[in-house]
Amino acid sequence: MNNLITKNEEWINSVWVKIEKKMEKVAVRSFDKLPYTTSDGVHDDRSKDDPGWWTNGFWGGMMWLMYLSTKNDVYMSTAIRSEEKLDEVLKNFLRIDHDAGFMWHLTSGANYRITGDKKAFNTNMTVAAALASRYNIDAGYIRAWNFENTEGISIIDCMMNLPLLYWASEEIGDDRYKKIAMAHADMAIKDHIRPDGSVNHIVRHDDDTGEIIEIQAGQGYSETSCWTRGLAWAIYGSVISYVHTKEKRYLDAAIKCANFFIANVIRTDYLPPIDFRSPVEPLYYDSTAGACVASALLELAKFVSEAEAENYRDASIKMLRAIDEKCANYDENIDHLVDLGSERYPSPETTKKVVEFPIIYADYYYIEAICKLRGLDFFMW
Ligand code: GLY
Repeated sequence: MNNLITKNEEWINSVWVKIEKKMEKVAVRSFDKLPYTTSDGVHDDRSKDDPGWWTNGFWGGMMWLMYLSTKNDVYMSTAIRSEEKLDEVLKNFLRIDHDAGFMWHLTSGANYRITGDKKAFNTNMTVAAALASRYNIDAGYIRAWNFENTEGISIIDCMMNLPLLYWASEEIGDDRYKKIAMAHADMAIKDHIRPDGSVNHIVRHDDDTGEIIEIQAGQGYSETSCWTRGLAWAIYGSVISYVHTKEKRYLDAAIKCANFFIANVIRTDYLPPIDFRSPVEPLYYDSTAGACVASALLELAKFVSEAEAENYRDASIKMLRAIDEKCANYDENIDHLVDLGSERYPSPETTKKVVEFPIIYADYYYIEAICKLRGLDFFMW
């Protein structure tokens, strides 16, 4: 085992024991839900309020990670129940957009890869085709969203949906999906990732030439700042593209963005703010970015020299420890695991709560990273 992991073994094991004890209860309590957040410690249910919500795959994905790590059937049943709920979304074609990968590759995609279930295979193939159909051939990007006034838009987040396309190509033995994923990733390297390793969240393109028409702040502080979760999507998404293609440009992109993230997260003691270039005060944290990057760095560490790998593992463990110390909740009667997630940098007009609350994908990536540290050898992406 790696030195750094051995040095932290006691901590990793103690965190895992608490997670397992808690999740065994939460999996039963929230069996029939697609949770996004909690209210007074109780999971909400997006399958009632918003079945097509983009985060609705994380709960099932988390259950598969717990199943793989424990072989406890409770988790498999809950994961499959969440997939059934997503089947309704597909049947009714509710809000299927660029986030198809987040929603289905962690649910039906994981189900097929773990159990070989044929229906899950068909579902994942169907949504892969839907995602591929969003590619604009002339402009070279996968179109984000379906709302009004989002014509020509690509977003950095979409890097995390590409594994669905890589998987489809790998399954059918035809590169057509992979080529779309790579074209989109190449656009992101050119138009979203800046020379210093920070990122643009939203880019509007000319739909005939692909040229940039405008850059928008999106969920960050401003169009020139750096939204940390967007950077997290860039890091993890670039590693994923490298895993599936072995093209060095994706590894280089991941390294550039990871180094920017690590250099900046030091200033807030390894729990990232929502934006690395927002005013220092007020400081709003976003644990989702920290958890996602912590997991991405453990993946990145597999493809660099041992000296660099140690740096990435070290930063990853520091970010996970920051979550453990500052915002993890192991109380078995509370449904969420990680607090201090943030949806976006708040604008003065924002009235609903968008900062520092429990968000399901902080739980997902925290568990994913801890599973990796414990040696789980199953890549969800
Ligand atoms: N993909 C949307 C977000 O990161 O909030």
